[in-house]
Amino acid sequence: MSHSTTAQGTTAQAHPNIALIKYWGKSDTLVNLPSAPSLSITLDTLVTETTVSTASGQNDEVWLDGEKTIDLKIAGWLVDLRHRFDVPMLEIHSTNNFPTASGLASSASGFAALITAINAHCELGLDNNQCSIWARRASASAARSMQGDWATLAGPHWHVNSIEADWPLRVVVAITDPTRKAVASSVGMAQSKDTSPYYPAWVETTTQDFDAATKHIAAHDFAGLAALAEHSCLKMHGLMLSTQPGLLYWKPATLALIHAIRELRADGVPVFFTVDAGPQVKAICLPEAAATVEQKLASIEGVQQTLNVGLGPGAHLVDP
Ligand code: PMV
Repeated sequence: MSHSTTAQGTTAQAHPNIALIKYWGKSDTLVNLPSAPSLSITLDTLVTETTVSTASGQNDEVWLDGEKTIDLKIAGWLVDLRHRFDVPMLEIHSTNNFPTASGLASSASGFAALITAINAHCELGLDNNQCSIWARRASASAARSMQGDWATLAGPHWHVNSIEADWPLRVVVAITDPTRKAVASSVGMAQSKDTSPYYPAWVETTTQDFDAATKHIAAHDFAGLAALAEHSCLKMHGLMLSTQPGLLYWKPATLALIHAIRELRADGVPVFFTVDAGPQVKAICLPEAAATVEQKLASIEGVQQTLNVGLGPGAHLVDP
């Protein structure tokens, strides 16, 4: 790959990923190890683009979507990175072409793009696996955005891996509320671990779900994957609801969309839903069903926008 570092900086892109077998809860918060494995698909047209250059002043400068920001998560992560590598003060400009921090995995694409750009700009010499470990330390789901298409994050080493599925599903994203979520994922996860009576069962059963999902994917068994992915999603939201105080990320339109997707499937349309820590709904379908699914979801009251996307690449450098 051509080196895309210029005087203006080094630019990388990464795409959000959507977990079909969900991750919620950590066994280690220092290096961010999940308690259970997860499995995701990386999307194509939603993108974070991040340019990193050496700062002229004494401090890092972070610009998110054109606004100068103090982001404590980025700041803490840079401190850790500098314990290990010689990284100068940086100017970071990051933009998303989709809503930030509202359950569309902007932290996943954000940290995957950031480590990819820093690795090249500062010549850290990290390979894709090492980049994914650094991305994971910020946001476990970010490790998965280092990979394209189908990705897994599983123990014992908690490295990201790809599944050679050759199964080009489509995802219709229904945006119901693009504002920032009230409780950040890492805060909510810690609360669930500390307070939910369901947490041990969640950890135990997710490993079984993960193993079964990989078999459905290998067999291109859409119905099997649909049942399991909806189960993982609803189980995670059950865990969230059973947390104290209860974590409720849904809006009325979220529930209306879930019912609509189940009705479509009962009518023979190959589609299933998943929902993350936010009110947006992602409908995963076979390519031939995408137009029907998008039309139906766009008609639901409270849906502000629909996006019809395919599976996309892992994090990569781009020419400025
Ligand atoms: O890795 P985080 O902190 O962005 O948390 C991701 C949590 C979920 O999106 C709800 C589930 C997942 O596996 O992506």
